[in-house]
Amino acid sequence: MIYDFLVIGSGISGLNFSLDSAEHGTVAIVTKKELMESNSNYAQGGIAAVLDAHDSFDAHIADTLTAGCFLNDVEAVKLMVTQAPAQIQKLIDIGVGFNRKKEDLSLTQEGGHSARRIAHAHDATGKEIERALIFQVRQHKNIHIFESHLAIDLIVKNNACQGAIVLDTEKKHIEPFLAKATILASGGAGQVYERNCNPRVATGDGIAMAARAGAEIRDMEFIQFHPTALALEGKPTFLLSETIRGEGAILVNAKGERFMESQHELKELAPRDIVARAIYEEMKYGPVYLDITHRESAYIKARFPYIYDQLWWYGIKMDKDRIPVAPAAHYTCGGVHTDLHGQTNIPGLFAFGEVAHTGVHGANRLASNSLLECMVFSEQTVPTAVAYVQHVGSVEHVEIDSSNTIYTETNVRDIKKEIQQIMWEHVGIIRHKNELNDTLQKLQAIQDTLNTLQKNGRDEMLIETKNLADVAILITKAAIERKESIGCHFIV
Ligand code: SIN
Repeated sequence: MIYDFLVIGSGISGLNFSLDSAEHGTVAIVTKKELMESNSNYAQGGIAAVLDAHDSFDAHIADTLTAGCFLNDVEAVKLMVTQAPAQIQKLIDIGVGFNRKKEDLSLTQEGGHSARRIAHAHDATGKEIERALIFQVRQHKNIHIFESHLAIDLIVKNNACQGAIVLDTEKKHIEPFLAKATILASGGAGQVYERNCNPRVATGDGIAMAARAGAEIRDMEFIQFHPTALALEGKPTFLLSETIRGEGAILVNAKGERFMESQHELKELAPRDIVARAIYEEMKYGPVYLDITHRESAYIKARFPYIYDQLWWYGIKMDKDRIPVAPAAHYTCGGVHTDLHGQTNIPGLFAFGEVAHTGVHGANRLASNSLLECMVFSEQTVPTAVAYVQHVGSVEHVEIDSSNTIYTETNVRDIKKEIQQIMWEHVGIIRHKNELNDTLQKLQAIQDTLNTLQKNGRDEMLIETKNLADVAILITKAAIERKESIGCHFIV
């Protein structure tokens, strides 16, 4: 089977593209777990858009550029911001249940925004958008869904991408998925870090595959650390949405002092890099807490039902207790470079969402611009990818060696942990110039070991760990290249 479009990843951008492009040809979605399991699914905050009469496109553009320290691509930012209201309407039309205040959408606040402009579905906006999109995707006759299928490498022949080599992780065999256009929608690489608030699937597979195929990768030093992830011994690094601070939560140190007041005029709602570093510094003297106990219990439970329940399971009552927090890796601002239509430098290869670099985020992403980016740039890519598919003729068959796919050694889990620890300690929130070259050498030695192990066969853990090593090296090289601190790259 040769598909018109091969979509790798099933987050919001991949699903949105699949629905639109399926009107023009056959689509295969390969996703390494279930369709619902993606970074998008865990997005709590919401989706930014100018929807209030007192707000303006200019203000949203200015906030995005300020957060990005003006390293953004201004055209990409303008495009994204001006498309936002139409994207919200599109989501409403397919059944997304945003919260409302009477007739209007209820808009919340997040760090770096000069207005309340975040449309949200309680505190689980990504899940709600995924639900609505999946409902549509499952019904479309042109869309073929392959769950438990992990893309291993892109197939590039005659200087064009013609699909991917894919591992069926249940049947344990490798097969080529051929396609006229291949679309990376595989999300970011938060799992590169020991402390991260991403799902386990966020292993940077798309960035690593694209880099190996010769795609241009940009801005990998800009890894965003979310200021407030749960910091409770033995419990997951669960994200505590910035919208909690948007609704009045404050940050206090072990002595109960509110330390953000002295750091930035926007206090707890300063851009994320500033809040994350302030917490990191404060933690040298003791734990840091997020505190929303001054708001009414009924309000907290109604506004943050998902977070309230999760914390309850971890033994914390959000309406009565302060919540111990610490920063965690959250978002990959860089990635596979594309133009405004999702095109990479490899013909036939397109990318959007967190795996991609359109330049829209600059040195630091503004909160709740990511789901928006997913919607806007996946839609932007459709006409270009359709035109490409119509212009390429056929795709040649490829032979692959599908034997020897089961890998039996057991130490890969330890190698993964080692990469995560190295990155957290040496290429994390604060980077030290004099450590980065040694760190790079260590990572390259790990990469060599993984390359050797792959000769014996490959399984999911090995493939993902190799991708993590490749991405860790890209981040470290980019951090070495950028000599001055800016946005979420802080170097001393
Ligand atoms: C959050 O809810 O704090 C995350 C939203 C985002 O990263 O944009």
